[in-house]
Amino acid sequence: MKSIYFDNNATTPVDPLVCDAMLPYLKERFGNPSSPHRFGQSAKEGITMARDNVSALIGCHPERLVFTSSGTESNNTAIWCAVLANPDKKHIISSQVEHHSVIRLLEFLQKHGYDIQLLSVDQQGELDLEELGRSIGERTALVSLMGANNETGVIWPIKEIGEIVKSKGVLFQSDAVQMPGKVPLDMKEIPVDYLSISSHKIHGPKGAGAIYVRRGVPFSPLIFGGRQEKDRRAGTENVPAIVGFGKAAELALSHLQRGVDARLKTMRDYLENQIKTKIPEVKINGAGQPRLPNTLNAGFRYASSEAMVQEFDEKCIAISAHAACETGTVEPSHVLRAMGIEEDYIYGTLRISLSRFNTIEEVEVFLNILPLIVQKSRQLFPM
Ligand SMILES: Cc1ncc(COP(=O)(O)O)c(C=O)c1O
Repeated sequence: MKSIYFDNNATTPVDPLVCDAMLPYLKERFGNPSSPHRFGQSAKEGITMARDNVSALIGCHPERLVFTSSGTESNNTAIWCAVLANPDKKHIISSQVEHHSVIRLLEFLQKHGYDIQLLSVDQQGELDLEELGRSIGERTALVSLMGANNETGVIWPIKEIGEIVKSKGVLFQSDAVQMPGKVPLDMKEIPVDYLSISSHKIHGPKGAGAIYVRRGVPFSPLIFGGRQEKDRRAGTENVPAIVGFGKAAELALSHLQRGVDARLKTMRDYLENQIKTKIPEVKINGAGQPRLPNTLNAGFRYASSEAMVQEFDEKCIAISAHAACETGTVEPSHVLRAMGIEEDYIYGTLRISLSRFNTIEEVEVFLNILPLIVQKSRQLFPM
């Protein structure tokens, strides 16, 4: 049976062109980019090219980009920058629906005396921008709000948010890990101080991420050691992964310019409409908001996410109940909890996230199987 991968918000398959670009850096171009000889300089060239491509994807100057190991490290770095730059300010604003790479660090800071304010969202995942404006005060060190939610795909207006935050003279960080390649991003347009992105969400390899740092904003490295990344992130660079990230970024931009977002949206909307037609008692979470074109989060009343994910897996179809890093927890996701999704629906939620490698034929295979799997799961639901 041919397998179908519909879990692209967890991670994406590496584009074969990305693999090709990486291979020389695992073989003959293996040098340490800090070495002055030709082996080193050849590896360094790979990093320079990657920096140009990744910065082009988000519309920033290449020097404003610091390579990290992941989106998680980028988020952690940015938050620490703001904390260390403002030792007298102990208030941080974020939201209840952030990724755990933000939430768990904020929980840690809370234990160490910080006043952490997590803004709530409504049933559609929308943020109250007036509440945000009212919440920012003299003691606020940072506002950390994501650009797009990994579970529902709901997109927040980070340009508008940035304008509110910057009008109060406060640092603004955004987790944009799910955005590149799906929606256009331009750092010249968005008044954000720090922005996090990650290679493995855009058909690049795992082990590479980046943080955009606006010129002039405070920066303190998270990791100390050598002088890599202009003293901003020590440790010998993961050259093959960074090169792969660069190639993935180049491809993501070119696919976006050729309308991959519209193609994904057509496929997602078809899937969504068919689900609503075929299955009774289903709710699409976040449907009333702007959403990533590839993401669909559907709650099936009286069904079990875990049972359905397993049934699909047995049919070689990969989907998820919630964020991959929380798999194993029986509890519904904190994102859906924060949105106040009803108990009848919250335990039967599926996240389907598409990529440019998916086809409408795969969507049809999924739709053919779905009614039976939902029905079977509903019979199991403990009433
Ligand atoms: C919104 C969001 N932020 C951060 C991360 C973490 O990125 P990484 O897996 O590169 O550490 C993820 C990954 O799932 C994500 O979806």
